[in-house]
Amino acid sequence: MFAVYAESFSTEDPLSGLVVGERPEPEPPSGWTTVTVKAASLNHHDLWSLKGVGLREDALPMTLGCDAAGLDEDGNEIVVHAVVSDPAWSGDETLDPKRSLLSERYQGTFADKVVVPSRNVVPKPASLSFEEAACLPTAWLTAYRMLYTQGGLKPGDSVLVQGAGGGVATALITLARAGGLRVFATSRDEGKRKRALELGADEVFESGARLPQRVDAVMETVGKATWSHSVKSLRPGGTLVISGATSGPNPDNAELTRIFFLQLRVIGSTMGTRAELAALTSLLDTSGARPVIDRVLPMEQARDGFAAMAEGDVFGKIVFTR
Ligand SMILES: NC(=O)c1ccc[n+]([C@@H]2O[C@H](COP(=O)([O-])OP(=O)(O)OC[C@H]3O[C@@H](n4cnc5c(N)ncnc54)[C@H](OP(=O)(O)O)[C@@H]3O)[C@@H](O)[C@H]2O)c1
Repeated sequence: MFAVYAESFSTEDPLSGLVVGERPEPEPPSGWTTVTVKAASLNHHDLWSLKGVGLREDALPMTLGCDAAGLDEDGNEIVVHAVVSDPAWSGDETLDPKRSLLSERYQGTFADKVVVPSRNVVPKPASLSFEEAACLPTAWLTAYRMLYTQGGLKPGDSVLVQGAGGGVATALITLARAGGLRVFATSRDEGKRKRALELGADEVFESGARLPQRVDAVMETVGKATWSHSVKSLRPGGTLVISGATSGPNPDNAELTRIFFLQLRVIGSTMGTRAELAALTSLLDTSGARPVIDRVLPMEQARDGFAAMAEGDVFGKIVFTR
């Protein structure tokens, strides 16, 4: 079958290990099901995989992709939940020490078909297109959990979203707006700042600029480049939720003094549960909020999508269709 996969790793030139080609049809083990992929979306995770982050050499070749929407074996329209937990695990799947994401241990979604545990699908509301639904399982689910589970934010609270152009960041802005929050966003790029306003941010700023007020919470995915500013932007007792470190994991100043003196809470967040994915799909269904899609490409042109993400030339999600 058609598949987009990693054949080797390179930190310098990650796209050198990317193959757009053919892989054997998957055989679902007992308790797993085959999903026919209609649309899949690209995440920074897929670029990390090509750099050998989170993926072992002995797992190659590995079909990339965490996110998909498609048809189950009975022809029902579904969204794939990308977190594969141990069959013996019950409760919050993101806390299972044996969990993995599709494309880490099990083959990913950039293919005609993907096999997943039968419990890893949720119904796709008819109001969402396959392209929109394919944006949800990683970036949008991560954003949902950051704001409403880990951040515990309520209508009227204020939030700062760093790096407005990213897949997670655009989801954060849209979902924060849908949840009645006051939204500040930063971006290095003027065009992206304008688009963040169109998405519903109340005010936008250059990366690192002083905000007009201290906020209840900051949503961090950028890491090193914005960490200090994130800590300084919080009110006493505020919450910093972090789910990524695109610019690097070692900030020049960890701001430890400010963290304890202002009694800030720093909370990690990773993906989300299947129940949160179902709650997210129904929030979009009822609110009318929709994923921001930068571009839709046929999966055969996946390399162009990877190149755009590697260059940071993206606002919202890149979606591949079959
Ligand atoms: N923990 C999880 O479950 C989880 C899930 C999804 C993603 N993630 C992580 O979250 C991060 C974002 O993922 P994504 O898919 O949204 O990636 P993305 O679409 O590539 O977004 C990255 C954004 O980071 C900002 N940025 C990058 N380098 C920067 C720098 N040097 N200074 C300031 N801003 C910088 C950019 O914003 P501007 O250009 O607007 O400034 C860019 O739009 C990645 O590290 C990813 O691995 C984690």
